[in-house]
Amino acid sequence: MGFTTRQIHAGVTPDPTTGSILTPIYQTTTFVQASIDEYLDKGYSYSRSGNPTVKALELKLADLEGGVDCSCFGTGMGATTATMLAFLDAGKHAVISDVAYGGTYRLATKVLSRFGIEFTFADTSNVDEVAGAIRDNTAMIFTETPANPTMKCSDIAAISEIAKGAGAIHVVDNTLLTPYYQLPLELGADVSVHSTTKYMDGHNATVGGATISKSEEHGAAIRFIQNSTGSIMSPQVAWLTSQGCKTMSLRMDQQSANAMAIAKFLESHPKVEQVRYPGLESFSQHELATRQASGYGAMAWFEVKGGLAAGKKLMDTIEVWTLAENLGSVESLITHPVTMTHADVEEAERQRVGIIDGLVRLSVGLEDVEDLIGALDKALEGV
Ligand SMILES: Cc1ncc(COP(=O)(O)O)c(C=O)c1O
Repeated sequence: MGFTTRQIHAGVTPDPTTGSILTPIYQTTTFVQASIDEYLDKGYSYSRSGNPTVKALELKLADLEGGVDCSCFGTGMGATTATMLAFLDAGKHAVISDVAYGGTYRLATKVLSRFGIEFTFADTSNVDEVAGAIRDNTAMIFTETPANPTMKCSDIAAISEIAKGAGAIHVVDNTLLTPYYQLPLELGADVSVHSTTKYMDGHNATVGGATISKSEEHGAAIRFIQNSTGSIMSPQVAWLTSQGCKTMSLRMDQQSANAMAIAKFLESHPKVEQVRYPGLESFSQHELATRQASGYGAMAWFEVKGGLAAGKKLMDTIEVWTLAENLGSVESLITHPVTMTHADVEEAERQRVGIIDGLVRLSVGLEDVEDLIGALDKALEGV
């Protein structure tokens, strides 16, 4: 079945007691057991360990991503944390994309490093640098591709080979492209992680996360950490996310088409210094972006001539676009990563990986593209 059919139907069966077409929100703490001998005969005991509304979303996401197991979390960071805790012990080492989301960087450098886990931040867009960062104790390579906000891409298949050779697992943060455009598990990765907050919800309504594993064993390891640490998705969030997923491919296609038109507009604008969007032929990794994904997504960034001051003025004055953190929703958002999403990344590290002060990040939404371009044009006129 095609992706759009599966995003609607996978994981959902009519409610057996009422026939409700949507999986109900099972707002319950516990599940009554028939007897000691029949304990768990309906599959559920307590909502930290599993809930039917959350399960419906997990089945859908496992199907869409081509995995055998999925766990949903309270946030994307919950999903990343559980994945790292599942596969990294004290004394183990992980190689992480140096351009990974700022929260992933903070988790590694300020939290997990306190427990004796070692991290190397490598330029994963350079396969040789990944290979060179492997040590005897490397247990994980964590790649975010395309990365937020630089849009740097990493070769999932080549890095998966390096991970296999090192006996490490390869985890890919697939948030920016979703399984509609990119299938890391098919390309050789072991686990995909998502902030479902973004394109899966798609409506700025929730925060949530998910991990999808290629093997039962990896899925069970993540579930064990989830049940132990209690980082679960609530039934309401799972229900809303399930509804969001049903239109994901349609939103992604339209948002990506809008992003391409906007990137081309910005590229030709005299007040724009540089634009980065994987769909542009001028994008340095356009060939890789085209090879490993079936779409370019709806995230882009640009720098206004005049740097930070001009960029700030544009973000403060622009209409239609909303100044806010988050990405992937129907509303077009404009963000300054240096002061907003990536404020916890040290300045030197930000400069090193290309998160420059004047970087203006765009999360392109579903509005009429003429309105989005018109608003950018007007704001650029004023800087
Ligand atoms: C690529 C990526 N991964 C993970 C996260 C973390 O997700 P959440 O905010 O749902 O915890 C984000 C958040 O912006 C992100 O952009």
